[in-house]
Amino acid sequence: MSKPPAEIPEENGVHEARRRLLTWLWRIPVVAALGGAGYGGYEAYRVHFSKRRPNPKPVFQTRSRERVADLSELTESWAAVPFLFADLPAIVLRLPGPIAGGLTHQGAHYAAFSRICTHQHCLVDLSRDPSAIALAFNYRSEVPALVCACHLSVFAPDRGGRAVSGPAVLPLPRVELQQEAGVLYATGIEVS
Ligand code: FES
Repeated sequence: MSKPPAEIPEENGVHEARRRLLTWLWRIPVVAALGGAGYGGYEAYRVHFSKRRPNPKPVFQTRSRERVADLSELTESWAAVPFLFADLPAIVLRLPGPIAGGLTHQGAHYAAFSRICTHQHCLVDLSRDPSAIALAFNYRSEVPALVCACHLSVFAPDRGGRAVSGPAVLPLPRVELQQEAGVLYATGIEVS
């Protein structure tokens, strides 16, 4: 006795469905790889060409005045003192030249920045060793820089806190400074 003729098309249909599935399966890694490459290209473009310049006329939101440091703690260029301002970790530096949003007093230049990295909020630290910055952060600098060890962003204090390398694109917000009787005070935080 022969098989019922209805079973043969059903078997063929299953094979056809499997063939179509296999035809599509090989495309998944190709599409994923293309998507990854496209996203990587977009990120590389964004990170290298979208870094925002610090505002040449920063706008500060006023906060209650807090003591930062004595001027006697900042007697040389690139001397730095970390401090907390309204619970925000920050750092004040003596710079070799003036920057927008900084403070110049008796020929000495000071600036303060938030220490919260604008990429994903790790703490930045001052690195005074340009060769260490080149080695560890893949960025050549003639001067010290604020660096973030989480994903290797580098910020230039002498350029208003601009992100100059790594994934961060926004500059570090500046802290407004005031000088009185040889003491530096923080009085506001930059808002974008
Ligand atoms: S959190 Fe600083 S580089 Fe990512």
